[in-house]
Amino acid sequence: MLSSKDIISINDFSREEILHIIQTAAQLEQDGQKHDYLRGKILATVFYETSTRTKISFNVAMKRLGGNVIGFSHLKNSSFLKGESFSDTLRILEGYCDIMTLRAPWEGSARYAGEIVDVPVINAGDGSNQHPTQTLLDLYTVMQTQGRLDHLRIGMLGDLKYGRTVHSLLMGLSHFNVELFFISHPTLSVPKRYLRHLESKGIRYHILENYPQIIDELDILYVTRVQKERFPDEKEYSQVRGLYQLSRKDISSVRENFKIMHPLPRVDEINPDVDDSEHAVYFQQAKNGVVVREALIYLLLGGEKLKG
Ligand code: CP
Repeated sequence: MLSSKDIISINDFSREEILHIIQTAAQLEQDGQKHDYLRGKILATVFYETSTRTKISFNVAMKRLGGNVIGFSHLKNSSFLKGESFSDTLRILEGYCDIMTLRAPWEGSARYAGEIVDVPVINAGDGSNQHPTQTLLDLYTVMQTQGRLDHLRIGMLGDLKYGRTVHSLLMGLSHFNVELFFISHPTLSVPKRYLRHLESKGIRYHILENYPQIIDELDILYVTRVQKERFPDEKEYSQVRGLYQLSRKDISSVRENFKIMHPLPRVDEINPDVDDSEHAVYFQQAKNGVVVREALIYLLLGGEKLKG
């Protein structure tokens, strides 16, 4: 049902499709390290912005499926510096690959790419807008650690204004029966259009400025870094940096099933003394990026339902 589709926003998926990707990823994980389903196929990773996890996990995912990877990892490594347009670059790369994943600082760039090329386009992050594959691996991690996606109380902490992972995740979660707690400085709160979306789906949410009063009632706390690169000026950033620093003492009386997630990279919003806590799952979450992206590429290139 996903074959040849562009993945621009998490809104492009139904609840059933999200669950299908999660089940496929779980099956691939269970089947082991290497598969040969996509021998001879080529993925182009077109990254105009830096990335560690997304780009490398896409790379590993394609190689595990038996395919190959081409692309560039920063606009400095492309002919953008010679003045080549974004659309010309996409048209050229389309001729070299079977599927493309794109990261760019411009909101709407992935949708634009999907309109001008014929191969499936996967949005790997477009400005402050969306990061749908991050959401899929986030939901996979929630399912892996909680055993369900419904009936959960989930907190989101940090930069809820510019953080594209938060925007995608809250939309993805809106397919499920969850209660959300948005915790941020008032200048970094969730944009109203996302709140309207939640209201239209009947999702309960709360807006708070700090977490001590709520942390012991949560199943998940999704922490994010303040997105320095998205601020129009440095002064505005300096007023909100370092406001939240989750540490071991903050999680002394949390629920047994409570998990701390973070899309990473972190700066100083989670103290390293949390890392070896049973509640910290952010490194496991990043690792899950491989099987989830593997499942997505497999399904977009026409892969059939895997036998469990
Ligand atoms: N989570 C995430 O998108 O990380 P990268 O920027 O390293 O890809």
